[in-house]
Amino acid sequence: MNKLNKMTVEDLEVSGKKVLVRCDFNVPMSNGEITDDKRIVESLKTVKYLIDKDAKVILCSHLGRPKGEFNNEFSLKAVAERLSELLEIKVIMTEDVVGDDAVEKASNLKNGEVLLLENVRFHAEEEKNDADFAKKLASLAELYVNDAFGTSHRAHASTAGVADYLPSAVGYLIQKEINFMGKALEDPKRPFVAILGGAKVSDKIGVINNLLTKVDKLLIGGAMGYTFLKAEGVPVGNSRVEEDRLEEAKKMLSDAKAAGVEMLIPVDSVCGNKFSEDSEAVVYDEVPDGWMGLDIGPKTVELFSEAIKNAGTVVWNGPMGVFEWANFANGTKEVAKAIAESGAISIIGGGDSAAAVEQLGFAEKMSHISTGGGASLEFLEGIELPGIAAINDK
Ligand code: 3PG
Repeated sequence: MNKLNKMTVEDLEVSGKKVLVRCDFNVPMSNGEITDDKRIVESLKTVKYLIDKDAKVILCSHLGRPKGEFNNEFSLKAVAERLSELLEIKVIMTEDVVGDDAVEKASNLKNGEVLLLENVRFHAEEEKNDADFAKKLASLAELYVNDAFGTSHRAHASTAGVADYLPSAVGYLIQKEINFMGKALEDPKRPFVAILGGAKVSDKIGVINNLLTKVDKLLIGGAMGYTFLKAEGVPVGNSRVEEDRLEEAKKMLSDAKAAGVEMLIPVDSVCGNKFSEDSEAVVYDEVPDGWMGLDIGPKTVELFSEAIKNAGTVVWNGPMGVFEWANFANGTKEVAKAIAESGAISIIGGGDSAAAVEQLGFAEKMSHISTGGGASLEFLEGIELPGIAAINDK
């Protein structure tokens, strides 16, 4: 699966053909404005290729979770506008997804024109991967390209089902994502260091188990670190701990030892006396009662930075602390800095760690920042992504 043996957009004869392209335009919005257009920008290569090849381009995506009903708050109109600016051509927007307006606009589309369908999740059938809905979507076009890496872990009508009815291929973004992450997992430049953070161990068990068979060092920060510390018998005060995962955490620590993987967990923490932005911030080696660990401390930063400094490949998923709060952002910032300065091939999982790297100004220094949050995590787990599995093999 890591070696992508799938049809690609260049394998299709697209000239003059209507090509349905599933993108992930699920971008963050605030008051109707797009606050980060990375996913739109990353989709341009495939869209531009199709325009240059004189295809009739029909784009589709979801935005948010509108629960199967039309709802203006989740309209893709702002995305059509941003796409028009970036492509420097007018992107035609439909009022519906598979209704009369979509059918008419798709059939009137001329070579080199671009149409964007309304949010596919305005129909509950999308997430159910309903065959009739997939068929209706497919009937708008003659070919199907999936380039929605960020949604490829969902087996939905527009990401998987539609491929049953049209010749299919993956786009450039999916190829790029799989190439970077697949290479890191299969043939990494060593030492291979993985850094995992974020809130929950339970979200990362699959990833940890898969990475333990591949990496040289595994660094654990974020709230999930406290479950590991407690499993080791280290006092964690009021830190967030998943009590029902302590046994698993113990097992992972002993599996790491058996596999010869150096697993590093925090040796100190920046602690708060409440879970709040204006909490006091005090560094402790062991979190006392009444306090909770909200970031890795300076000794841990040093320990992690040293491990990162000599890495050949770094994969990072999940922040080291509550980086949105200034008092607890240092660990995430220093880890980002260490990766940026390491010269290693650096792969940043999407979601929070991607946002952290962007916000902290290190994005340019990274080899690859994934557009997928859940999707990149499932890829690192070694799970086959249904949106990619659905595509015709070469
Ligand atoms: C994402 O942002 O992770 C993808 O667009 C998938 O969205 P979803 O979690 O609502 O399916």
